[in-house]
Amino acid sequence: MKILVTGGAGFIGSNFVRHVLTAHADDAVINFDKLTYAGNLENLRDVETDPRYRFVRGDIGDRAQVLEAMEGVDAVVHFAAETHVDRSNAGAAEFLSTNVTGTFTLLEAARELKVARFVAIGTDEVYGSIAKGAARELDPLNPSNPYSASKAAADLLARAYWTTHRLPVIVTRSSNNFGPYQYPEKVIPLFITNAIEDKPLPLYGDGKNVRDWLYVLDNCAAIDLVLRKGKEGEIYNIGGSHEVENIVLTRQVLHLVGKPETLITPVVDRPGHDRRYALDSGKAHGLGWKPTHTFPKALEATVSWYKEHEAWWKPIKSGAFRTYYEKQYQSR
Ligand code: NAD
Ligand code: TYD
Repeated sequence: MKILVTGGAGFIGSNFVRHVLTAHADDAVINFDKLTYAGNLENLRDVETDPRYRFVRGDIGDRAQVLEAMEGVDAVVHFAAETHVDRSNAGAAEFLSTNVTGTFTLLEAARELKVARFVAIGTDEVYGSIAKGAARELDPLNPSNPYSASKAAADLLARAYWTTHRLPVIVTRSSNNFGPYQYPEKVIPLFITNAIEDKPLPLYGDGKNVRDWLYVLDNCAAIDLVLRKGKEGEIYNIGGSHEVENIVLTRQVLHLVGKPETLITPVVDRPGHDRRYALDSGKAHGLGWKPTHTFPKALEATVSWYKEHEAWWKPIKSGAFRTYYEKQYQSR
């Protein structure tokens, strides 16, 4: 199969490209990525000489670039997005142009070229905060912030292309991912790298918000299965089935890095901060998928990866890098 992966230079996309090239000897991958601040070709250095892999720099909102890259592919797996909630709260323009208009451009191109499979990567954040139980695929969407609202728009648009145009779309909605190559603005890599550097860990609000953590390689396996065995027009929740309060997660990270809890620094809460996400992944389990990595082992492996790959994250965190909290704090 020849697959166009959008956003393949980002965190999940790069892990997915590597997964496909490793698991499927006959597959070829085109990685189409704009290389925003979150895109990094270092994430795929090990595969760049593989003849089955090709990188194309381009913007998913650019129709001509998209049509050229998509010509002749069997499937599109669409990861490219602006992904950080705090950035969307600070300014949402890029979230609308990439996540909504960019997705629209891809869907139109896929329709024109009659692409046989279009997997749209969505998020559990579209369901909004879940007080009790777990969200199922047909539950109403109730996004809280500009990021999740833009992802909900993209998700619904992709589904509309199935309903109206019979473009063979499948949507996955996963919970919070963690693992190697995650940009250190997201909580797990930020806290691991801050701990390594003896910097404070800015914990939002009361620290009791809950996220359901999914190891990125388990998500890649699920997306791969959905790509090959999923049913057209369907949505699949992909959850890690491991809910943790942020404060508990923070203590676990500090323990694994070997640093004191005095680094925990409670800070002002994120506006509109969703309290809890939870997914019912029964449908994906029905396809034959289950996470194969346990959370404690996967977190330990992730901490080890960041300890061993300072050369990857130190350049990102030097220079102009500021977390959302640091920016807010400095602007006062
Ligand atoms: P990321 O921020 O690490 O990477 C995004 C990638 O998209 C980057 O390589 C960037 O250069 C590229 N990109 C951005 N705008 C582009 C454009 N206009 N044209 C082409 N490329 C562009 O993101 P991630 O964490 O790997 O997330 C990937 C996808 O998975 C996103 O759609 C995100 O919404 C979804 N998702 C992520 C998580 C998570 O926990 N990280 C959870 C659920 C869903
Ligand atoms: P994040 O990694 O930004 O993912 P998302 O907002 O998409 O779930 O944040 C995960 C959780 O960690 C969320 O409840 C917010 C919290 N958080 C902090 O407490 N401090 C931080 O510096 C960051 C970035 C996040």
